[in-house]
Amino acid sequence: MSRVINFSAGPAALPLEVLEQAKAEMPDWQGSGMSVMEVSHRSKAFIAVAEQAEADLRDLLGISDDYAVMFLQGGATQQFALMPMNLAQPGDSVDYLVTGSWSKKAAKEAAVVRALNVVADGADSSYTDVPAFDTWRLDANAAYFHYTPNETIGGVEIHEPPQVGAVPIVADMSSTLLSRPIDVDRFGAIYAGAQKNIGPAGLTIVIMRRDLLERVPDDVPNILRYKSHADGGSMLNTPPTFAWYLAGLVFQWLKGQGGLAAIGTQNQAKADLLYNAI
Ligand SMILES: Cc1ncc(COP(=O)(O)O)c(C=O)c1O
Repeated sequence: MSRVINFSAGPAALPLEVLEQAKAEMPDWQGSGMSVMEVSHRSKAFIAVAEQAEADLRDLLGISDDYAVMFLQGGATQQFALMPMNLAQPGDSVDYLVTGSWSKKAAKEAAVVRALNVVADGADSSYTDVPAFDTWRLDANAAYFHYTPNETIGGVEIHEPPQVGAVPIVADMSSTLLSRPIDVDRFGAIYAGAQKNIGPAGLTIVIMRRDLLERVPDDVPNILRYKSHADGGSMLNTPPTFAWYLAGLVFQWLKGQGGLAAIGTQNQAKADLLYNAI
């Protein structure tokens, strides 16, 4: 077998050990005579997988019980629409920092739903830099402040959450979540499509402070409400069981590597190699 060195941002490489384990378990998962994809998501065996995956993710990121963790579908792109729908009331305005193509898309979608305030836009530098903080037009009354800590295509990265006062911070961490430790308590909500550091595409992780779940306006349909997903254990409808199971294997692999502090050190060493060469 020859495995290539895969530099793709996403779908990204998965640990070989995880692929081998999934392969070995595929035809007869846990003695069920079925693959995990063929087992009911309501079965005891699958619920155990789902609960273990959540517990491991909480452990890896140090997520307290003040936060709900959801395993959803729709990708990060769907969260571009759901965040303003769930977290802002009619008449509210939302703050967006635009530092590249993903935050631009997120802002565009938010503008469909609520009044958009672009706090700053890095267009002047062709998105090669973050606009200076003293030029930001923050609104202290915004429903939330949204930014993209790592712009996967342009490469602009913001290492620490910005100081935006009491306004909850919403972060699209699609290409950073699980690459190093973060302080979840500094965020109102974090979301990420799984296909970078988490598992296969088809799964989306949303971590949301529980008080923010209550904000959802009455006219948002049930399937689009974070609160309903959180209350329903992310099983309002059939979840992407294989992606959830595989993400669980990745979480265990990450813990086996020494957790996110060790992974962060490895990733820094990889980045140093590349940047030193450049
Ligand atoms: C930062 C960022 N946001 C959003 C997306 C879109 O994610 P999805 O394809 O899961 O909707 C990507 C995908 O590459 C991304 O890198």
